[in-house]
Amino acid sequence: MDKLLVTGPCRLNGTVHISSAKNATLPILVATLLCPYPVKFDSIPELMDVATIIKILESMGLKTSKNGNELVADASHLDNQHADYSLVKTMRASVLVLGPLLARYGVASVSLPGGCAIGARPVDIHLMGMEKLGAEIEIENGYIKAKCTKLKGAVITLPFPSVGATENLMMAAVLAEGTTVIENAAMEPEIDDLADFLISQGVKIEGAGTSRVIIHGMDIKDLKPSGKNYRVIGDRIEAATFIIAGIMSGGDVKVTDFNPKHLTYVLETLTKMGANLEIGDNYVHVKKSERLKGTMIETAPYPGFPTDVQAQMMALMSTVEGNSIVTETIFENRFMHVPEMARMGSKVTLKGHSALIEGVDSLSAAPVMCTDLRASAALILCALNAHGQSEIQRVYHLDRGYEKIDEKLTNLGAKIERVKG
Ligand code: EPZ
Repeated sequence: MDKLLVTGPCRLNGTVHISSAKNATLPILVATLLCPYPVKFDSIPELMDVATIIKILESMGLKTSKNGNELVADASHLDNQHADYSLVKTMRASVLVLGPLLARYGVASVSLPGGCAIGARPVDIHLMGMEKLGAEIEIENGYIKAKCTKLKGAVITLPFPSVGATENLMMAAVLAEGTTVIENAAMEPEIDDLADFLISQGVKIEGAGTSRVIIHGMDIKDLKPSGKNYRVIGDRIEAATFIIAGIMSGGDVKVTDFNPKHLTYVLETLTKMGANLEIGDNYVHVKKSERLKGTMIETAPYPGFPTDVQAQMMALMSTVEGNSIVTETIFENRFMHVPEMARMGSKVTLKGHSALIEGVDSLSAAPVMCTDLRASAALILCALNAHGQSEIQRVYHLDRGYEKIDEKLTNLGAKIERVKG
C-alpha cells in the first residue's frame, strides 16, 4: 500500500487546477446506461472510484474508449443487469445503477452496498422511491432484486434530502410513463450537473437544484446525443481542500477551474474566521491573512455546510486562535480523523455528534493512518503544517477522490514523496 512522506511546515504558492467533480462524474457515467448510443466526455478525472464505476458499467456491457482526456461511453448493447457484490462492496455509489436498469430493462439485481467507515448508510429511501414508481423489490441473499413491467411517474416525498436517492430516482424517472415529482429532493450542485447532462440528451427536467424536481418521462428512442462532449463541473470539495491548504500554510494560492458559488457557505465561514480570499467567477485566490479565529459549524444538506469539508475544517481549526465547535449531522461516524490528528498534537474533545477543537500554536509530525477519503485530506493538511516529516499510511483512501493530489501540492511547493507499497 502506498504511503506519503510529508515534510512541514511549508508555505504553498502558485495556481492549482481543480479536476472534475467525483460526486458528479459517478452519477453521470451511470446515467449513460439510459442512452442507447455513444456519449462523449471531456476531462473525466483519474480516480479510483471512477475506475470502479466504469468496471461495474463494463460488466453490464458498456463499451468505453479513451483518447487523451476524452472518454467515450457506449451503452448501445447492455447484456447484463446485475451489479456484483465483489464490485459494489468497494464503492457504495454503485447502487445508482438500480434506477437506469429498472427504467430501461424492467429488471435489476444490485448488491446491497452495506455500511462504510463513516456510517451505516442504508438505501431505504432509494427503494421506497422505486416502489413508488411501481417497482417490486425484494432483498435476497444480500442483493436488491427489482422488477417492473414499466415504471410509472409518481409524486415521491423524500423523508431526508438524500443525494443518492434523488439521483437514482431522477434517472429511473427518465424512462417512466408520465411525470415524476421528487419533493424534498437534495439540492447539491452535483444533482444540478446530472440534470444538465440528462437535459443535454433531450430529457425534460425542471427544478433541479431546488427541493422540488420534476422529470417528464419519455421513450428511449427519443433520447438524442447532444453532439458535444460533456464536461462535468469542477470539484467543489477538492477546491475547498486546496483553499484550506493555502490558508493553513499562510501562502498565496489561486484555486481555479471550479464555481465558487458551489462553496458559498464554506467561503463565508472562512472569511468570517479572518481568511483573506479574492473570489472570482471560476477561482478563489487565497492571500496571506492574520491568524484565523475559531468558530462553530454544523454540517447540513446543501446549501448548508458540506459534511465532505468537515474534516478539512477541523484540521484548520486545530491551528487557529481560540476554540471551535464542529457538529456532524449527516453521518453518525465521521470523526475517524480525530485520534490521528491528535497524534500530531491537535486538541479535540468529542462529545456525541460534536467536537470541541482548541487551537494550538503548532503541530508536530507523526506517523498516521488514513481511515476514509476526507479524513485522509485532513491528515495531509495537518502534515503540511506540522514540524518534521509525517508518514501517512493507507493513502488508497485519498486516491479514491483526489486526482494526483501529491503532484498538485508539490507544484505549489509542498515537500511530499509517494512511497509505493
Ligand atoms: C453523497 O453520498 C456523496 N457521495 C457523499 O460524499 C456525501 O457525503 C453525501 O452525499 C452527503 O453530501 C457521492 O455523491 C458519491 P446521502 P450519499 O444519500 O448519496 C442517510 C465523499 O466524501 N440515508 O445524501 O450516500 C445516509 O445514511 C462522499 O465524497 C438514509 O438513511 O449521501 C446519510 O446519513 C462521502 N437512507 C444521509 O442520509 C437512504 O436511502 C445522507 O446520505 C439514503 C441516505
